[in-house]
Amino acid sequence: MSAHNTPRRWGWVAKTLHWVMAILIIGLAVVGTLMANFINDMALQFDLTQQHKSFGFVVFTLALIRIIWRWLSPAVPNEPENQRPWEKTASHITHYGLYALMLVMPLSGWMMSSASALNDPGAYPVQVKNMVFGIFEMPDPVYPANETLEKLFHTIHAYSSYLLAILLILHIAGSLKHHFILRDSVLRRMVPFAKVDE
Ligand code: HEM
Ligand code: HEM
Repeated sequence: MSAHNTPRRWGWVAKTLHWVMAILIIGLAVVGTLMANFINDMALQFDLTQQHKSFGFVVFTLALIRIIWRWLSPAVPNEPENQRPWEKTASHITHYGLYALMLVMPLSGWMMSSASALNDPGAYPVQVKNMVFGIFEMPDPVYPANETLEKLFHTIHAYSSYLLAILLILHIAGSLKHHFILRDSVLRRMVPFAKVDE
C-alpha cells in the first residue's frame, strides 16, 4: 500500500488521517453536546471537559498535518464520472467546509477556554490550566480573562458544531449513495485494504 494518492485511490497516509480524525471528531461532537447540555454531575462534567480539550487539541494538530499532506501529495483520486454540476459543487463545498471546521472547532474551543477566568491565576480558588492529557499546558493567548470573548467563542463553537453535523450528514449520505446506488469506487477508495481496480 503506497503512502501517496493515485488517480484511483487514496494513499495510506490520507486514509489513516481521514478515519482517525473521523472517529475523534464525531466522538468530540457527541461528548461535547452531552457534557455541555445533559450532564449535571459536576465532577464528571469537569473530567469530560478536560478530556474533550485534550482530544480537541490532537484534532487541531492532525488537521494541520492533514492539510499540509493534502498539499504535498496533491494527486488526489479523480472526480467520480457522470456527476451533475450541482453534485460536483455540493461535494466541493462540503469538503472545503469540513476542512475549515477541522480548524474552526478546535480554535474556537481553545480561545473560549483561554478567555475564561477559570484558567487565570487567582480568579478562582482553583486554577484550571488548559492541559493536554495532563502532560503539557496549551498557550493562553487571551489573558486576562474576557467574558465577551468567551461568550463569542462559545457561540462560534456551538454554531459551528451544528454546521458540522449538517455537513457530516450530507457527506455520509453522499458516500453511501456512491456505494449502494451508483455502485462506484468512491467509498472503497477511502477504505483501508478495500479492493479498487488499479
Ligand atoms: C462515517 C463517516 C464518514 C464516511 C463514510 C466518510 C467517507 C468519505 C469518503 C468515501 C471520502 C472520499 C471521497 C472521494 O474520494 O472523492 C471522504 C473524503 C473526505 N472526508 Fe470523509 N467520511 C466520514 C467522516 C468524515 C469526517 C468526520 C470528516 C471531518 C470532519 C470527513 C472529512 C472528509 C474530507 C475533508 C474529505 C475530502 C478529502 C479531499 O478531497 O481532500 N469525513 N470521506
Ligand atoms: C474538532 C474538535 C472539537 C469538536 C468537534 C468540539 C465539539 C463540541 C461541542 C459539540 C460542544 C457542545 C457545545 C454546546 O452545546 O454548547 C463542545 C463544548 C465545549 N468544547 Fe469543544 N469541540 C472541539 C474542540 C475543543 C477544544 C480544542 C476545546 C478547548 C481547548 C474545546 C472546549 C470546549 C468546552 C470548554 C466546551 C463546553 C462549553 C459549555 O460549557 O457550554 N472544544 N465542543
